Amino acid sequence: MKFFIDTANIEEIKQALSWGVLDGVTTNPSLIAKEEKPFNEVVQEICKCVPGPVSLETVATTTEQMIIDGKELAKIADNVVVKLPTCLEALQATKVLAKDGIRVNMTLCFSPLQGLLAAKAGAAYISPFVGRLDDIGQNGMELISQLTQIYENYGFETEVLVASIRNPIHVLEAALMGADVATIPFRVMEQFIKHPLTDRGIETFLNDSKKVPAA
Ligand code: E4P
Repeated sequence: MKFFIDTANIEEIKQALSWGVLDGVTTNPSLIAKEEKPFNEVVQEICKCVPGPVSLETVATTTEQMIIDGKELAKIADNVVVKLPTCLEALQATKVLAKDGIRVNMTLCFSPLQGLLAAKAGAAYISPFVGRLDDIGQNGMELISQLTQIYENYGFETEVLVASIRNPIHVLEAALMGADVATIPFRVMEQFIKHPLTDRGIETFLNDSKKVPAA
């Protein structure tokens, strides 16, 4: 399972990279806005320091503009993945960009049939938003199970990129379901490496090691 970090904050990205388990980054317009810096400055720095895929989103609303923006975004660096919303206008744009060898991440996916269309259009990734479904009283993880099943049934190569993750349980369940990627906020990543029993165990071993008589 690949781990992406869901942030546009360079310090968080560098820290997660230093842990040695980071495979890529996803951003969105809201995350970029939080950085209060020009778009190009933020994304160029991210693309330079991350060896894996970096998803950059366009806010275009027409097929034509999505294609133009997608081609522009792809010029920023070889590791750019163009993020388009899972909507009608983006299906054709995805097809065109994919034909040009540009990888597309279809985002804001909330139903299995949206995911099936994204795969048929040639998306490299589909981003189902589990947290936002949970927020409205639906079962976000059920969507992951449906998408992994559908893609397996037909041998689609589109990767299921679990997004809108709110807690470590989302990551655990996604892993058990065989999702390809989880894009995780920094605070959630930090959360699941930590365990109080591990901390207590380290402390005990450290203290006991001091009691071993010297040779
Ligand atoms: C995914 O690529 C999105 O950036 C992200 O996961 C959205 O999550 P949110 O619902 O926490 O905004």
